[in-house]
Amino acid sequence: MAQSVKGMRDLFGPVMGAFQRIEDTARTHFAKHGYQEIRTPILEYVEVFKRAVGDSSDIVNKEMYDFKDKGGRDVVMRPENTAAVVRAMIEHKLLASSDPQLLYYIGPMFRYERMQAGRYRQFWQIGAESFGVASPESEAESLLMLFDFLRALGLKELKLSLNSVGTPETRPAFYAAFRAFFDARESQFCGDCHRRIAENPLRVLDCKVPTCQAALEGHPVITDFLDEASRAHHDRLKALLIDLGIPFEENPRLVRGLDYYTRTAFEVLSSDLGAQSALLGGGRYDGLVKMLGGPDTAAFGWAIGLDRLAMVLEAVKGNQEGPKPALLIPLGDKASAAALKLAQTWWGQGCAIQLETRGGALKKALQTANRQGFTRALILGDGELESGTIMAKDLTAGSQEAWPIAEVPARLKA
Ligand code: HAM
Repeated sequence: MAQSVKGMRDLFGPVMGAFQRIEDTARTHFAKHGYQEIRTPILEYVEVFKRAVGDSSDIVNKEMYDFKDKGGRDVVMRPENTAAVVRAMIEHKLLASSDPQLLYYIGPMFRYERMQAGRYRQFWQIGAESFGVASPESEAESLLMLFDFLRALGLKELKLSLNSVGTPETRPAFYAAFRAFFDARESQFCGDCHRRIAENPLRVLDCKVPTCQAALEGHPVITDFLDEASRAHHDRLKALLIDLGIPFEENPRLVRGLDYYTRTAFEVLSSDLGAQSALLGGGRYDGLVKMLGGPDTAAFGWAIGLDRLAMVLEAVKGNQEGPKPALLIPLGDKASAAALKLAQTWWGQGCAIQLETRGGALKKALQTANRQGFTRALILGDGELESGTIMAKDLTAGSQEAWPIAEVPARLKA
């Protein structure tokens, strides 16, 4: 039997229903904040992510779906979308004016990761990016949009885990202190951390090995090394979040798995996700546009794991498919032709109707309707056609009554 590729899943039924509800809510909310959708290709040149996400990151090191295309070009199925959106903004000169640009995206990403619950090799992200504004206010606005969106979906108990990772200028002083701390207890750290300390010391803080986490006890804290402007930025953001009622806690070990962050970095974890507890992550990335060849542009954004959000919603209230349309069942050739024309009119009037087109016996059609969870059937036979009515059956209550055909749209909507 043919099977889907490992780590890639088909979406249907209740999970698809949750995806649709999440996506619809996202579009409505983000539009209210002035964000516009952008869709970039799934394939990008490898260089885009190597430079942006960083050679020392797991994403670039171990997880990229990269290959040569038939023209010998090195391409990759995008592992994330921030770098790709930046590439698009530069390519289309959308940042030339330095006006603020607010964008969101919904789409699949690909990472060759080890399989676990809530971790897939094709997964979906909803992300929002803002360009051209460096202020803590722009971050607060974006986080407010994020939290209003999550609250609209019914999630209440979420807390932001917040850090500032400083700027490339201030980081060397932190690295020096951190390396000295590491060297004093290097035998307690794993082999990967020995590689990390040379390539990017921040990654050591991110190590999941319990003995490494224990060895980090009392490590130098990056927020103690911020310059005055970064410190003021961080304090201002925290004050704004308190004012807006967005709960957060400071986490000096939060560094994120991507290299492009400057100053603000954050994640939201959910206890409903088990080991894969990160529901979303993001931060400021003021250097990325320039690094990829664009104008010096401040930027901030985040991305939510849609698969994980659907899992959390399942835990909160159970996912459901969208409401079923009414099932229109014609009996006989004459009624079948009439039903098509009636449905055409009713669809045009915004009614939700699914047409039974198999022909055959009413009993079979009703059995299918019950099995598939329809709650309303509209039965049209020759007798009904003559009297200008339709038999409306309430499949939950088991009752039925004749409706004048002209009243069907209004009655369905009621
Ligand atoms: P990220 O933390 O790598 O950040 O991914 C964001 C979210 O995507 C994660 O919190 C998680 O929910 C979901 N995710 C990541 N990998 C998987 C996976 N294998 N299976 C299921 N879900 C997954 C970024 O991608 C940045 N581009 C976020 C950002 C936007 N920063 C600034 N702007």
